[in-house]
Amino acid sequence: MTAPSDPYRSSQAHPPRRGPDPMGPAAAIEGAVGSGGPVDRAQQEAARRHLWLHFTRMSAYNEADVPVIERGEGQYVYDQRGKRYLDGLSGLFVSQIGHGRKEVAEAGARQAAELAYFPLWSYAHPRAVELAERLAVLAPGDLNRVFFTTSGSEAVESAWKLAKQYFKTTGQPGRYKVLSREIAYHGTSMGALAITGLPSIKEPFEPLTPGGVRIPNTNFYRAPGFIADDLAAFGLWAADEIERTILMEGPDSVAAVYLEPVQNSGGCFPPPPGYFARVREICDRYGVLLVSDEVICAFGRLGHYFGAQRYGYQPDIITFAKGVTSGYAPLGGMLASDRLMEPFSEGSATFLHGVTFAGHPVSSAVALANLDVFEKEDLLGNVRANEATFRATLEKLYDLPIVGDVRGDGYFYGIEMVKDKTTRETFSDEESERLLRGFLSQALFDAGLICRADDRGDPVIQLAPPLTCGPEQFTEMEQILRTVLTEAWSQL
Ligand SMILES: Cc1ncc(COP(=O)(O)O)c(C=O)c1O
Repeated sequence: MTAPSDPYRSSQAHPPRRGPDPMGPAAAIEGAVGSGGPVDRAQQEAARRHLWLHFTRMSAYNEADVPVIERGEGQYVYDQRGKRYLDGLSGLFVSQIGHGRKEVAEAGARQAAELAYFPLWSYAHPRAVELAERLAVLAPGDLNRVFFTTSGSEAVESAWKLAKQYFKTTGQPGRYKVLSREIAYHGTSMGALAITGLPSIKEPFEPLTPGGVRIPNTNFYRAPGFIADDLAAFGLWAADEIERTILMEGPDSVAAVYLEPVQNSGGCFPPPPGYFARVREICDRYGVLLVSDEVICAFGRLGHYFGAQRYGYQPDIITFAKGVTSGYAPLGGMLASDRLMEPFSEGSATFLHGVTFAGHPVSSAVALANLDVFEKEDLLGNVRANEATFRATLEKLYDLPIVGDVRGDGYFYGIEMVKDKTTRETFSDEESERLLRGFLSQALFDAGLICRADDRGDPVIQLAPPLTCGPEQFTEMEQILRTVLTEAWSQL
């Protein structure tokens, strides 16, 4: 079966394999191979004829089979032939509690039977109230107000709209611009896309919403030469670039800075020490809102409910989605400080924004059940107890010539591949295409590991396993990666 092409790349996908799946280079790894039953031809035909996959070169499946994942259990998923895969990406940074949790599914079913739907336009329903209160307790500082959405893009978009209307309402109508980092991904709707820092996925949709401005990211492995040896100095430089950009754009025109606690796109860039403290100072100095985009980093990915708590900074808004339900139903939202709500709490003032399914009762019930699992099983504790072992296990891969950098925090890692470890020379576009799409994505999938081989920045493999994982799964990941990366190097 052909591996899925990467859901975020604009020019992804690898040459499809024809015919039955020849077990890949790591097929000998225990647990990688399932029953290998027959492929459902009618389903394949229907998928090819009618289903439009996201961010996917559909031509890759003109003849090759579409990968169909049929069920999940714990940290593993199974395709329609019964072959097992370790879900090293939690689906898409979503399945924090793992797959197949009956109690969470049942919470959704119970809610659907009681009240399947009612909007949050003028009305409330009990599960949205309970969830909002629970999130407000878990969130850092004065983030007390929850505005629900159905997705991360909507959350990002909502925070921008809130920032704009807030400033218009409070006598600063010129503030509309948003600063965000190079290569950072913040979603695909037109507003969120203007905040996203990936030129290749923006270009077909120009002109975008005006106001998106880029600032440097915190990729220390590729830090500019003059601070390449000093992590703390690099962090302060990257933060000061935000100030420089605010001054260049005109402070009165800047509404917000969007930052992920650990930037995903580009392959996991954690914040250098002192970075967020300096950013907070700068935002306060110029009256700019700090939006922590935690669509990936919240709900345990970094061993805390929110990434801002791990790095000790106080955002004005947190955007979230994905892990809030562990994917048992779709939900997103933003947590805003009381201060931002204040202008909308008197007279006829209204935040003029909403979506039909935001805070859906079933999704809210599922989110509450998901958080119950977090508490009962102390998943944050599990991440904190095991993260050093996860790091150490992945760092064993440094003995391979292709592994240049292993970076991340919590259960969130990127492994950057290089042509030359000493010079950090990266691959040409052609080599990258051959390596990632022509070989790695397929080989890792064949070997039973779902992760992402990505080249939105330099070529990286991204890992974000369910928070229930432990040393056994870390070793499984390391062994599959070792086998496949060794083979990749020999093919270069
Ligand atoms: C940091 C970040 N923001 C926003 C989004 C968009 O979320 P969604 O795909 O739910 O719209 C994503 C998606 O991965 C993300 O990683």
